[in-house]
Amino acid sequence: MILPIITEPNPILRQRAREIRPEEIKSSAIHKLISDMKETVHPAGGIGLAAPQVGLSLRLVVIAPGNKLLALINPEITKFSWRKETEEEGCLSVPGKFGLVKRSKVIEVKALDENGKVIKFRAKELFARVIQHEIDHLNGVLFIDKAKKIYTDNSPRA
Ligand code: NI
Repeated sequence: MILPIITEPNPILRQRAREIRPEEIKSSAIHKLISDMKETVHPAGGIGLAAPQVGLSLRLVVIAPGNKLLALINPEITKFSWRKETEEEGCLSVPGKFGLVKRSKVIEVKALDENGKVIKFRAKELFARVIQHEIDHLNGVLFIDKAKKIYTDNSPRA
């Protein structure tokens, strides 16, 4: 099922989302949520989606690097590279706005997968950026809070 995406200034986007308990991970409600979020991200035109964006204040994100869809439960960034990169970002919950955001180029991530197993991996460049953006959503932070300059669809990008 494709889920509706909430947008700014919905207060759910500004809450700190709660952790998903181990016994909840195997529940049909969480399984259904993960499968619905996976189904929603690409048709919405996104490359990542956080549960608060579909109105549920839970620490769950779906990342879509290329054709793969990866669900991360209670994700944490355990290491941020000193090296940063500034790139343009947008957000499904902030339609029509874009901005330049500085983020770590490489990160190390720890999370639970959809079976509740601990996974640890390293991500770089766009993959690292999407994860940082989605984890910000779990902390009530939007890219417009961090962007150096905000553009609208019509404003010049220079
Ligand atoms: Ni977003």
